Amino acid sequence: MTRVAIVGVTGYGGAEAARLLLRRPDIEIVAATSSRLAGKTLRDGCAWLDSDLILSEFDPNVPADIFLLCQESGFAMEHVPDLLARGKRVIDFSADFRLIDLDDFRTYYKKEHTAPHLKGVYGLPELGDREEIASARLIANPGCHVTAAALALTPLVRAGLVNGIPVVDTKSGVSGAGRARKETDYLFAELDNGLKAYAVTGHRHTPELEQVAGVKVRLTPHLVPMPRGLHATVHAPVSATSAEEIRTVLRDAYQGEPFVRVVDAPPTTKQVLGTNRCDLWADYDARTGHAVLLSVIDNLGKGAAHQAVQSLNLMIGAPETTGIPVDAVWP
Ligand SMILES: NC(=O)c1ccc[n+]([C@@H]2O[C@H](COP(=O)([O-])OP(=O)(O)OC[C@H]3O[C@@H](n4cnc5c(N)ncnc54)[C@H](OP(=O)(O)O)[C@@H]3O)[C@@H](O)[C@H]2O)c1
Repeated sequence: MTRVAIVGVTGYGGAEAARLLLRRPDIEIVAATSSRLAGKTLRDGCAWLDSDLILSEFDPNVPADIFLLCQESGFAMEHVPDLLARGKRVIDFSADFRLIDLDDFRTYYKKEHTAPHLKGVYGLPELGDREEIASARLIANPGCHVTAAALALTPLVRAGLVNGIPVVDTKSGVSGAGRARKETDYLFAELDNGLKAYAVTGHRHTPELEQVAGVKVRLTPHLVPMPRGLHATVHAPVSATSAEEIRTVLRDAYQGEPFVRVVDAPPTTKQVLGTNRCDLWADYDARTGHAVLLSVIDNLGKGAAHQAVQSLNLMIGAPETTGIPVDAVWP
């Protein structure tokens, strides 16, 4: 039995992790924290989860083997040194331990890193090292835009096909901004029926994507009036000569992967809703010499909580797919 603490369980990411872990016979949730709702039940904070779990304040002393930190950037930097010193293992949902270059962290997150001596293992099994994830003390769970774009782009870079700066256009459902947001931008009346770009030239996921994919990128994200889902379109200048050549690179890269597949038609975010899947499609534009890569994920699935559970499974020696949805809800 693995004992887990979910820190920030009433947020979107934390609640989605709870949804996957609540009924697992091999997992005991020994703490589920909410500073706003301590003393109430999980059902009080998240009506869609049928659970009497009593919410509590964060306490590093609880007897958990693994802490899932589902909090804004800053929390992990503050608490991970102490948790690791206590022998705990951590999966951090925030960006605190994703970037290797701390100058990038300072530039994009506009603060100093307070635990620069600690490095996380990047928790993207399909592009990383599963053994490293399995033995990690600290997992840096990837960003959602990066997950979608990197899964599409990285195999082409690794195959030596990319010969310029890819343009990455991502579109995210509004849950990507979190449940705590109060700005008018996220009100239904202001968001619905419209579409806008944000952080147009300086999005925080830019250096993270460059680190994972191994190539400089031009990234602009967009906010889409849908609850969840993330769609990435990557326009990559390539030395390939056909769509089939590009598709073969992707198929070879993900052969046998349970959660990534190359599909035969441009995918919709809806076909991966509530799952840990990433569906990829590729074409080649011979006129401009670009690969056009389409990638869809659920920002709270493969983009956050399900991917964290995938790493957790590796960390505890469970089959990697245990308790993680593959099939979506439809329509
Ligand atoms: N959302 C995504 O798609 C996504 C994807 C990838 C990574 N991440 C990362 O995961 C971390 C957590 O993100 P998140 O989207 O889960 O954040 P969130 O929904 O905003 O929740 C974060 C915390 O905000 C607090 N909170 C304040 N007001 C709230 C309210 N009215 N309802 C619910 N919670 C409220 C809660 O803590 P208390 O109850 O203790 O106050 C909650 O745990 C962040 O670092 C984020 O960057 C998110």
